[in-house]
Amino acid sequence: MTPRATSAADNPVMNLPTPDDAPPLPDTLSYLNGEYAPLRDARISVLDRGFIFGDGVYDVLPAYGGRLFRFEQHMARLDRSLAGLRIPNPLTREQWLAIARRLIASLQTSKGFVNQLVYIQVTRGVAVRDHVMPPGLTPTVFVMAGEMKLASAAQREHGVACVTADDFRWQKAHIKSTSLLGSVLARQISADAGAVETVMFRDGFLSEGASSNVWVVQDGAVLGPPRDHLVLEGIRYGLIEDICRQQGLRFELRRIARAEVLAADELLLSSATKEVLPITTLDGTPVGHGAQRGRPGPVYARLYAGYQQAVAAQSI
Ligand code: PDD
Repeated sequence: MTPRATSAADNPVMNLPTPDDAPPLPDTLSYLNGEYAPLRDARISVLDRGFIFGDGVYDVLPAYGGRLFRFEQHMARLDRSLAGLRIPNPLTREQWLAIARRLIASLQTSKGFVNQLVYIQVTRGVAVRDHVMPPGLTPTVFVMAGEMKLASAAQREHGVACVTADDFRWQKAHIKSTSLLGSVLARQISADAGAVETVMFRDGFLSEGASSNVWVVQDGAVLGPPRDHLVLEGIRYGLIEDICRQQGLRFELRRIARAEVLAADELLLSSATKEVLPITTLDGTPVGHGAQRGRPGPVYARLYAGYQQAVAAQSI
């Protein structure tokens, strides 16, 4: 019998990682179709349409110290995503909240994580493979939770590097669908370049990051792409709008040409885990002007402070 290579170092031909190099799957509590089980033991049918077609939606909810932030807004987006795929929401708000809280509480006692991230997924359900949507299926409901790893102090102090790419995803980016291959390929472009996000443009206009929204600061105003089918409306869209109103910053959603992004005073990312995060180099070029060039700017500082105040005031 030929001995099997057990690690990249033992593999003389390819020097590729082997399955033995993969990290172990988590034993944290998860929820699947009414049952709670360790995540590594949860199982679905291979005929689940989420597996076969990516026929499902998901959402990712942040929790700080065990308290969910903007839960209602995440639920409203889940409803919109489900409606986009004509899948009924199988659970009530109260049921979603109870599951999320149980998983968070379990994480707190078993792992002691300070902040948590709850991932929920609903697929159309299990059926014989057919592109046509089979009527009357029972949706598959899956929820897991893990540690929310926020941006590091160094990233906040220095900002992060991003690269640009064409937006080659489909034209229903407003649906938070589990069909994420376009986003995976887009994100890998920046990962290969050692950058934290890929800033995408469609037909010469800013759309968003592979898994975050992108904001442009221009003459003191915060600009973002319109809420339309070409971007996923992050929960931070409404939040940044609120903070701008409180802080007296002009906020405008409109199409933003690539040249405006390249000439921005500041660029920011937003997502559940990035909160708001300054981009300080884009394709290797420092962002901004004068003494501020390549450094996090004053509008970022105000939005981040407003964000932390909102977390303290609004988490449930
Ligand atoms: N991503 N745009 C895209 C394409 C996203 O995937 C996300 C979130 C966002 C920001 O949305 P929010 O502010 O609600 O986190 C924008 C999540 C976190 C993910 O896929 O893991």
